[in-house]
Amino acid sequence: MKSVPELSGRSILLGISGGVAAYKAAELARLLVKAGARVRVVMTEAAGHFVGAATFQAITGEPVWDDLWDVRMPNGMTHIDLTRDAQLILIAPATADCMARLAQGRADDLLSTLCLARDASCALMVAPAMNRQMWEHPATQRNVRQLAADGAQIVGPAAGEQACGEVGQGRMEEPATLFEAVLAHFTPKSLAGRRFLITAGPTAEAIDPVRVITNLSSGRMGYALACAAARAGAQVTLVSGPTALEAPFGVDRVDVVSAGDMHGAVLRNLNACDVFISVAAVADYRPVAASDRKIKKNADTLTLELVRNADILADVAGRPDAPFCVGFAAESHDLDSYAEGKRISKKLPLVVGNLVADGLGGDDNQVVLYDANGSHPLPRASKVTIARAILDHISRLLKD
Ligand code: CTP
Repeated sequence: MKSVPELSGRSILLGISGGVAAYKAAELARLLVKAGARVRVVMTEAAGHFVGAATFQAITGEPVWDDLWDVRMPNGMTHIDLTRDAQLILIAPATADCMARLAQGRADDLLSTLCLARDASCALMVAPAMNRQMWEHPATQRNVRQLAADGAQIVGPAAGEQACGEVGQGRMEEPATLFEAVLAHFTPKSLAGRRFLITAGPTAEAIDPVRVITNLSSGRMGYALACAAARAGAQVTLVSGPTALEAPFGVDRVDVVSAGDMHGAVLRNLNACDVFISVAAVADYRPVAASDRKIKKNADTLTLELVRNADILADVAGRPDAPFCVGFAAESHDLDSYAEGKRISKKLPLVVGNLVADGLGGDDNQVVLYDANGSHPLPRASKVTIARAILDHISRLLKD
């Protein structure tokens, strides 16, 4: 991963308390360091039973801190000095005991003292990890509420199989999710208060119970847009065709299969939406009737009769109360004329065009933005970078 502008040069204290999930904190530290953040690790005594300081020192390139009485800091005030240039303390994993101590404002080890002594400009993010019974206990729930009331952001815990073999809520969120939460924390909230509805991925039109008509869309562009909009503070609903991608952090995902399902889901979620971005590669046609039995290969040729699907974007954009609508045009040739043609015919303020050879399915993309002022080519970049640029363009047009 390359350096991420929102995280580059940020100073983050990664607090690790004593839970099995501490081993995942190494991956989290690596993600943050690779993104360009300065990460300094503070371990509790109990954390040392699960992971070693040498691991974190190697990953972060910084000394690891675990002692309130450490005299390595020039003025001997580790609990003050470590927090003064930190913009975020992220505790992952945060055990039940760690949270109880933070909720009480205790200051009897380095990590709890740092949290108490931190500057108002230094945020606190907590990723709980514990057995499900410990998580559900009223005392823990009381502590979580207290921490949230004191201004901490609580990320997770997730549900699933636990180290103890039980199943339930209490797993620490995965490092990639925590990384996303940190990134969202540092992203300016330029889209706060806006509601986005985004479609992504392919659709699949049933031929029979085991066969579909679909296309090569990976969904990555739509997911990157949903993720970037959520990071920028928008409330995002993502209507997704079948993809192999995880729902982005902070995004409400609605799974669909066919173009008809997608159309229904879009209309159901259109209420109070400010921006609709139609990224999905929606099948233009579907079989007239899906066979309810598997079609057998009895004949040498087989003809499928197809019927046209409704155009979801044109339907939404044609409404009297239409939100700001953005279309995508993936073309094999004559990009300018087709993309601009779609912008005019579907009555869209913005179309994002690309040649299929440049983007479909891959990690990178090269796009041209078409609006009422003409065409604006963007340099070739990752879909994440392109997503940011598209959102910036939308923000500018919304302000006009
Ligand atoms: N779109 C849609 N519903 C459809 C077909 C397309 O909402 N049934 C949207 C796509 O999500 C995209 C835009 O319309 O934002 C353009 O889609 P594209 O497939 O490129 O163009 P079409 O309008 O289908 O025209 P053609 O296939 O002839 O290029």
